[in-house]
Amino acid sequence: MSTSTRVGIIGAGAIAMHGHIPGIKKHPHGSVVAVCDTNKDRANALAASNGISTVYTNWRDIIADPNVDAVTVALPNALHAEVSIAALKAGKHVLCEKPLAMTVAQGEEMVATAHKEGRVLAINMSNRPRAEVQYMKAKVAEGKIGKISYAQGRMIRRAGIPGFGSWFTRKELSGGGALLDIGVHMLDMVLYSLGNPKVSAIRGEVQAVHGPQRRGLGGWGSDRVMDGTFDVDDLASLHLRLADGGLVTIEVTWAIYAQNEERIQLIGDQGGFDYYPTLYGSEKPLRFYSDDNGSPIETIPTIPRIDAAHNLVYAGYIDAIRGTGSVVASGDDGLAILRLLEATYRSASEKREVSL
Ligand SMILES: NC(=O)c1ccc[n+]([C@@H]2O[C@H](COP(=O)([O-])OP(=O)(O)OC[C@H]3O[C@@H](n4cnc5c(N)ncnc54)[C@H](O)[C@@H]3O)[C@@H](O)[C@H]2O)c1
Repeated sequence: MSTSTRVGIIGAGAIAMHGHIPGIKKHPHGSVVAVCDTNKDRANALAASNGISTVYTNWRDIIADPNVDAVTVALPNALHAEVSIAALKAGKHVLCEKPLAMTVAQGEEMVATAHKEGRVLAINMSNRPRAEVQYMKAKVAEGKIGKISYAQGRMIRRAGIPGFGSWFTRKELSGGGALLDIGVHMLDMVLYSLGNPKVSAIRGEVQAVHGPQRRGLGGWGSDRVMDGTFDVDDLASLHLRLADGGLVTIEVTWAIYAQNEERIQLIGDQGGFDYYPTLYGSEKPLRFYSDDNGSPIETIPTIPRIDAAHNLVYAGYIDAIRGTGSVVASGDDGLAILRLLEATYRSASEKREVSL
């Protein structure tokens, strides 16, 4: 391997520009050597603004490039499995965007291929590295809140639909709407903070209220089709039974008649955390609730600031490739969450609780 881990980016869209390129560049041993997008102008623009010399328009060419050690798959969800599997088979390490794939069967093939080829397969669960999430996870593991009784995660967007007809809103290209796009983050953040307890059953509901009426447009997405297909959910509500008796509820919306909100509550029999995360930092300080000799107490812990999320994701990924560290989230982690997302859709369509 060369002294630098040479990464090729597949998909030159919004997250490549805002998350992946800065994350790779921040690593002392990371460099972006090639970019690929079917939209040649977009690929050229991203390459030019970041000093990237090689541009491809066919992903098969970038995974065949011997100067590329690892690829980032930042493509519409429908392409995650096919491109990641081909890249792994070509000997590349892969950091795939979330959700890992559109189906559990695809995700299982990705994970099996990575194991067989002996390559790193990571998934970009870019909310795990938040300072508050890391703090809560460590404290829950120490027993600070005791036995988990209840946890709740909400990611409520008043108007956040990424176009009406972009790949995000077409089921054949995305696999699902708000649940797969942002539910994946909130579900993962809550379960990860709790130490990934075993989930024994799920009851899920999904709705599409605003999207079909062309309301609730947000700012995200590179190809902002305004009059195309919207056949995915814009709201999801999940109730998870934990094997040891706790309950987790997750609610996410792309659009709703309510104010924006992001909140995580982790409640045990000895204490509880209440965290209002935002995408770009903490709006309100994380609070810890407990009792002191029978009197209610509320404290605001001091949480050390850490690096930006994508910098930490790439710190783990590139270090894992180089054998000096470990990924923030592995393909197996992505698969575990995908199983829960798929079970949620099954529960919603069959209108019953699904046992796992
Ligand atoms: N981790 C996060 O917080 C986060 C945030 C946003 C998006 N994402 C994920 O990142 C992925 C990309 O999302 P985005 O917001 O950047 O979307 P985007 O639409 O902005 O970018 C996707 C890019 O892929 C290109 N593309 C489509 N088909 C292609 C093909 N066959 N070959 C090469 N390029 C092709 C498109 O032209 C586009 O430039 C999705 O899986 C999404 O869920 C993750």
